[in-house]
Amino acid sequence: MKKYLVIGNPIEHSLSPKIHNYWLKKNNINAEYLKLSIGPEEVKNVINDVKKDKIFGINVTVPYKQSVITHLDELSLIAKETSSVNTIYKKNGKIFGDNTDVLGFELAIKNFKLSLDNKKALIIGAGGVVPSIIVALKKLGVKKIYLSNRTKSKIDKIKLNFSFIEELNWGNFNDSDIIINATSVGLNEKDNLNIDINKISSTKFFYDVIYNPPKTNFLKKAEKNGHKILNGRTMFLYQAQKAFEIWHNILPEINNELFELLEHD
Ligand code: ATR
Repeated sequence: MKKYLVIGNPIEHSLSPKIHNYWLKKNNINAEYLKLSIGPEEVKNVINDVKKDKIFGINVTVPYKQSVITHLDELSLIAKETSSVNTIYKKNGKIFGDNTDVLGFELAIKNFKLSLDNKKALIIGAGGVVPSIIVALKKLGVKKIYLSNRTKSKIDKIKLNFSFIEELNWGNFNDSDIIINATSVGLNEKDNLNIDINKISSTKFFYDVIYNPPKTNFLKKAEKNGHKILNGRTMFLYQAQKAFEIWHNILPEINNELFELLEHD
């Protein structure tokens, strides 16, 4: 049976196996998808297993989306642009790295019927997913992107590749049309981002990359203040859908059954 993996650390929380195994079964593909927690020293060996046809595809999550790159032969344009890889596969004897997070975010916003053309966006956080969100926002036509992070040096690093980003001091808000939580604050139900959204008067759009729990305190507060909200679940589903298509040449269906499967986790 062909084997596929998601690698990361920690990986226990990953819902990728649930989704991919659901689609594999639905499409009568004789393969299995497992999660593997690995240390940094094991990354090279796991990718080598793709070379040796022991593994047929890998999804990569925190904290290896950047560090896998040195072990790959070729990158897609978007993987290059974001220096971030979440999907690995072998083609014509070479190991390829692609990034489906960008498309995931883009489709999540489009699916929500939200036009960001010529709008302003504020991203809170500067972790691994942020370059993908920046590229997706650009594709969606956003005219100005602000970035705010607790640790300033991480913003400087992101600005090396995306010089058009404007920094906002930590804790500051502006009148951006979309406000994105890209920090890990909220993964624990009690987590609270120490920012005061009460200052924002008109209706805005609040997005959280986190999908589990489905409603972080960030989203709860925004909803209470009358703003539109969306969590990271659709982005997660769309990035998985694209990875599945890359590996199996089939675009699997995102249906209600799948949403329910995730809900009851
Ligand atoms: P990585 O940096 O490995 O990609 P991540 O989980 O993707 O990790 O990113 C973590 C993000 O959450 C960072 O922006 C981090 O801020 P710092 O750069 O200051 O560490 C942010 N974060 C995590 N805990 C936080 C907290 N308690 N308050 C504010 N920001 C926090």
